[in-house]
Amino acid sequence: MLRQLLPRCGRALRAPAIRPSQLSLAVQVPRWYSIKPEAASAAKPLGLDPSKLSITKTTSPKTPKDPATLVFGREFTDHMLTMEWTKTDGWLAPTIQPYQNLSLDPATCVFHYAFECFEGMKAYKDKNGNIRLFRPDKNMERFNKSAARIALPTFDPAALIELIAKFTKLEERFIPNERGYSLYLRPTLIGTQKTLGVNPPGSALLYVIASPVGPYYPTGFKAVSLEATDYAVRAWPGGVGDKKLGANYAPCIVPQMEAASRGFQQNLWLFGPEEYVTEVGTMNLFVAMKDKETGQKELITAPLDGTILEGVTRDSILSLAREKLAPDGWKISERKLTMRDLYEASLDGRMIEVFGAGTAAVVSPVRKISWKGKPVDCGLNDNEESGEIALRMKNWIEARQYGDEEHEWSYVC
Ligand SMILES: Cc1ncc(COP(=O)(O)O)c(C=O)c1O
Repeated sequence: MLRQLLPRCGRALRAPAIRPSQLSLAVQVPRWYSIKPEAASAAKPLGLDPSKLSITKTTSPKTPKDPATLVFGREFTDHMLTMEWTKTDGWLAPTIQPYQNLSLDPATCVFHYAFECFEGMKAYKDKNGNIRLFRPDKNMERFNKSAARIALPTFDPAALIELIAKFTKLEERFIPNERGYSLYLRPTLIGTQKTLGVNPPGSALLYVIASPVGPYYPTGFKAVSLEATDYAVRAWPGGVGDKKLGANYAPCIVPQMEAASRGFQQNLWLFGPEEYVTEVGTMNLFVAMKDKETGQKELITAPLDGTILEGVTRDSILSLAREKLAPDGWKISERKLTMRDLYEASLDGRMIEVFGAGTAAVVSPVRKISWKGKPVDCGLNDNEESGEIALRMKNWIEARQYGDEEHEWSYVC
């Protein structure tokens, strides 16, 4: 049967050749079922357009809480910024509306296949009362990379920054005036298509909520102790640990609880048989140590090889270190470092200090790391809660966040 059909199919598939002289005629002949040009342009998905923003203010504004009682991520402002996307229409008009629950069908794809990514960034109030975002372009770049990796729509970064700036301005009364306080912003993107089919979502919702936060260390630095985690892996090359997907975070909670049960505040995530140090909890890791041969001081952080998140604070610290530490003879390295390297530096007295780096705390000094039951001392004296580099980095970064130093990293809303 197949053999009988083949010759005929072959003939049928051979389309008559169109000579160049016939081409213009061939494309000009309208076909009744073809898409009309105007229909095609209407179907072109729209980009995110801040000029279409509509604002509906709450009729029951909250009284901001006493700043001293703020707990990270518990209190939210009066409003939320939202924008919907559909595959056919693109980004619909953004809105700012009263903070409210979402209503989603139980079959919505975000609940089943984790179509979710997010960002974490902060707005600061400067001494003149201006509201400033810190390097929002970096967050938007990372947000787009996360979205693209899980088939969610991307957006024009400048348009979303403009919308976030308007939203933040609207909520400015929630940012306490005192130094150390800020407004934590949580841009979130979810797939909203109602389907159990495992497919790219045909609709999505991007929203931004805001939470006033206090200083991470209200009474000064408090150095933490880490457990080097070798029984669970947070991220691997070719995986998605370098994206800010919600799905990367829940699996880290059980190892975190295990570390806590043994008295450690965070996990130090190792990777591979070499036991490369990658990240600490939800922060990037920096190690300052002296070179074994030359004695040169080196500030080291893991390279962007897919096993770590591309932290905005990490990038800021590297840039500040190249600007301010390198002229004093420091070597600044993005390179792999094993747990054994750390252990040996500590034993040899070459360890200067270790700290985590992230938006929440800026820097988080480390006192010791437990590695296979051995305590690895990270260079702090018993009476110290921070090394000098972590402290200087915090001050340099905060000067730019709070606008004490005018800098291109600071975006005035
Ligand atoms: C896994 C992970 N690594 C590092 C960071 C630090 O990134 P950033 O400095 O952008 O806050 C975060 C924080 O969001 C994180 O979740």
